[in-house]
Amino acid sequence: MFAKDRDWDSRVADAELIARSPGFRHLRDRITEIAAPGGRDTVVDLGAGTGLLTLAFAQHAGRVWAVDSSPAMVDYLRVKARSAGLVNVEPVLASAVSLPLVDEIADLVVSNYCLHELRHADKQRALAEVMRVLKPGGRLVIGDMMFSLNPKQSRDRRVVAGKLLQLARRGLPGLWRLAKNAARLLAGRWEYPANSAWWHDALQQAGFERIGIEMLAHEGGIAVAHTPALDARISPPALRPIAGASERADDDRHSHGALSGRAVAP
Ligand SMILES: C[S@@+](CC[C@H](N)C(=O)[O-])C[C@H]1O[C@@H](n2cnc3c(N)ncnc32)[C@H](O)[C@@H]1O
Repeated sequence: MFAKDRDWDSRVADAELIARSPGFRHLRDRITEIAAPGGRDTVVDLGAGTGLLTLAFAQHAGRVWAVDSSPAMVDYLRVKARSAGLVNVEPVLASAVSLPLVDEIADLVVSNYCLHELRHADKQRALAEVMRVLKPGGRLVIGDMMFSLNPKQSRDRRVVAGKLLQLARRGLPGLWRLAKNAARLLAGRWEYPANSAWWHDALQQAGFERIGIEMLAHEGGIAVAHTPALDARISPPALRPIAGASERADDDRHSHGALSGRAVAP
């Protein structure tokens, strides 16, 4: 069982309000722009919530598997997709660390503001699952808070100071929230954001290539990574070469190269 800290079933209305905010809509548009879904793409949305990414991608892609570990979110999203007339959305009740999907089913995996909910070891399990379900040459685009509580990193310091200031400006309710967050942090039950260096290493360790991370002006960032193309994954069998084989191998390499998506400059 993966570590689960929050009761998301009771937070559907809040999650929907946040998803409707200009900040999240901007993030959705940037993730869509970077991911550039194709009309026949099979997409997996991890931590789909009330459908911010799922509904946007379903309009451009072949099919979207909308994965979320909260039954209430999945129910909400199912109705929302139906009300939008989207018949290519498949809501799935599951954790990102164990996807009930067969190997190499997806061209694209996306996620927005879900993975910071997972402890680092569970993030790594989720990345291994993404690697498994993506086709060779497939792409992953993750939007999330990207900072850590490391006072040695200037961006991390700036983000944390900004958050503290924001809470302090809200007066008593802000200070109450701050106290609650401090208590959760001390109890080891706060969210688990990771900074861009952590994401870069974790993606590399999971076997991803062409990794890029775009830092946003606020706490957030968008990470992009690709699975190796087919010819890089399969080691050549120990067969004797036959006439004409090398020309065919060259042709194959060129067609798989065309599958790769675009990367964001690190
Ligand atoms: C902040 S909401 C974001 C929802 C949506 N992606 C959006 O951008 O509006 C986080 C979502 O992640 C889901 N979640 C948390 N842990 C998860 C896990 N281990 N696997 C799948 N979903 C998870 C929650 O149920 C919740 O719906």
